[in-house]
Amino acid sequence: MTTPQLGLSTSILTLILLSALPRCESQQAGQPNIVLILADDLGWNDVGFHGSNQIPTPNLDALAYNGIIFNSHYTQSTCTPSRTALLTGKYPMRLGMHGTPLNPAQVEGLPEGKLLPEYLKELGYETHLVGKWHLGYARWNNTPTYRGFDHHLGYYTGYVSYYDYLNTFRVDEKDYTGYDLRRDTEVAWDLAGQYATDVFTDHAVKTIENHALTKPLFLMVSHLAVHAGNDGKLLEAPQETINKFRHIQDSNRRTYAAMVSKLDDSVGSIVSALQAKGLLENTILVFASDNGAPTVGQYSNWGSNYPLRGIKATLFEGGIRGVAFAWSPLFVQSGRVSADLIHISDWLPTLFTAAGGDIGLLDPDLDGVDQWSSLQYDLPSPRNDILINIDEITRNAALRFYNWKLIVGTTWNGTYDSYFGESGKENIEEQVYNSTRVFDSPAGKAIRQVSYTSLTEAEYEALRRQATLRCLNAKAKRNPCDPSNGEVCLYDVPSDPCEENNLASFLPSVVRRMKRALVDYRSGLTPQISGKVDIEKDDPKLFQFAWNPWLDCSDSTCAAA
Ligand SMILES: *[C@@H]1O[C@H](CO)[C@@H](O)[C@H](O)[C@H]1NC(C)=O
Ligand SMILES: *[C@@H]1O[C@H](CO)[C@@H](O)[C@H](O)[C@H]1NC(C)=O
Repeated sequence: MTTPQLGLSTSILTLILLSALPRCESQQAGQPNIVLILADDLGWNDVGFHGSNQIPTPNLDALAYNGIIFNSHYTQSTCTPSRTALLTGKYPMRLGMHGTPLNPAQVEGLPEGKLLPEYLKELGYETHLVGKWHLGYARWNNTPTYRGFDHHLGYYTGYVSYYDYLNTFRVDEKDYTGYDLRRDTEVAWDLAGQYATDVFTDHAVKTIENHALTKPLFLMVSHLAVHAGNDGKLLEAPQETINKFRHIQDSNRRTYAAMVSKLDDSVGSIVSALQAKGLLENTILVFASDNGAPTVGQYSNWGSNYPLRGIKATLFEGGIRGVAFAWSPLFVQSGRVSADLIHISDWLPTLFTAAGGDIGLLDPDLDGVDQWSSLQYDLPSPRNDILINIDEITRNAALRFYNWKLIVGTTWNGTYDSYFGESGKENIEEQVYNSTRVFDSPAGKAIRQVSYTSLTEAEYEALRRQATLRCLNAKAKRNPCDPSNGEVCLYDVPSDPCEENNLASFLPSVVRRMKRALVDYRSGLTPQISGKVDIEKDDPKLFQFAWNPWLDCSDSTCAAA
C-alpha cells in the first residue's frame, strides 16, 4: 500500500484501514479517482429513483441509492453556462458566460483562468474528457486539450446528430453543416456511423482499462445523451432499444426513452470497467444533468421534468433543479437523500479537496463551496444561498436563499413557464418498478464488490419514496404567479417544489432582502459575451466540412492540424 498523500483527509485512511474490504495490491490507497458523468438535457422525471416507472434506469438507481441523491442540486438553465460553472467554480455571470449558449463559429469562449482539470493535473491526475465541450473553439487554446485535459474524444459545439456527428447551423436563412468529432485535435472521421452513446462509452471504458495505476484518474464523460440532434432527426436510438419501450405510445417519447436507457447502460459499463480494473473502491463518481429537459420548443427532446414547473432555459425548478447523485466508498454516510443546497459550481472545490488539494490554493473569487466533509459525514451543507442567474438583457433573475426562491422576469415571454412533460406519466400505472433489476444491474453488482454495506431492495424503495417530489395537496392554498406580467414570485421551495403558491405579498421583507441580494450580486456581473459569429471564416467548407478552430489561421488553408 502506498502512503496517502499529505493533506488527504485522515478519514479516508481510517476507512481504508478499518474496513474489511477485499483488496488487491494494485489499488491505490492515495488520491481517489474521480469520474464525473454529465447528462445533457435529462429531465427530472426521467430516472427511476425520482419515482417514475416509465423508463427503467437500473444502473443510475443502484448508484443513487447506495450513494447520495441530491434533491436540491442546482445548475444553470442551459448548457454553456452550466459547464462554465462546473469547470470554473464560478457563477457564469461573473465571466459573461451566463447568456445564450455558444453557437458554432462563435468567436468567444471561456475566458482565461484555471479550470477543474488543470487544478487536478497539478495534484498529479491524468485527465480525460469524453464527449461534449461547448465552451468555445475559435482558437486551439480555447479547446479541451489546451484547457487541462490530457486527452479528449468528443465534439466542440453544442450538439451533433447521434450517428453522423454533423451540426447544422443556420445563419441568415442559409444552413452550414460541419462534422464535429475529434480525437484530441484530429478530426475523427473514422467513427461516423456509430451511435454516439456507444462511442463515448467504449472510449471511456478503454481509457479506464489502459489507465496506468501510477496516477489517479480524472475522467469526465460529458454525454451527448439525451440532447436532441439536428432538425429532421431530433431523436435517435438503435431500433432494438426503441423496441423495448412499446408501452410508450408517443413515438418521440419512446425514442427518448431508448436514449435514456442507452445512457443508463453506459453508466453501468463504466462502473463495471472501474471495478474490473480495481479502481472502483477508491473512486468518487458524480452524475448530474446540466439542466432540465427541453420538453417542447427549440431542441425539444420530449424529456419530462414532471412535476416541476418550467423547462430548460427557464429559472423555474424544471429548468435548473437537475437530476444528480454521487456515489463513493469514501462516503462514511451514504444511502441517503439530501435536501441540502448544492450548486454545480461546488464540484470544483469539493473534488479538489477530495483529491488532497489545499483549499487555500484555489482562486479566492470562487462561488463554489467545498462540500466534501458534508458529503462524507452527512454534515449540513455550508451553503445557504444560490444565485441562480442574473441576465441583464432579458432582465430575468432568480435567487435561492434558505427555503426561499425569488424569481423576477422571464425568458421567451413566459412561453415555457408552465407545466410540461405529462408524457412522462403515460401508462406508468401499468409499469412496475423492479428493484430486483436495480440490484442485479451491472452497476449494482460492481458496487457490491467494493462496499462493505449494501442496501436491500426494501431500502431502495424507501429511498425512492423519499426522493419523489410531491406538489401541494389539493386543499392547500395557491397564489399563482406569472413573472411575464412583471409579478415578483416568491416560493417556499421545500414545501412547494412545484412553485404554485406565491408568497411575495405575504412576506415583503423577505422579498426586499432577496432583491437587495440580487442588486449586490449584480455589481459583480460581467456583461454577456457578444455572440458574434464568424461564419465566413469558419465555414466548414473551408475545413473539409468540419467545424474547426479558425482564429489562429492567417488564411483558410490551415485546416485541421
Ligand atoms: C415577446 O413578445 C414581444 C411582443 O409581443 C415580441 O415582440 C417578442 O419578439 C417576443 N419575444 C420572444 C422571445 O418571444
Ligand atoms: C425484475 O427483474 C429481474 C432481474 O432483472 C427479473 O428476473 C424479473 O423477471 C423482473 N420482474 C418483473 C416483475 O418484471
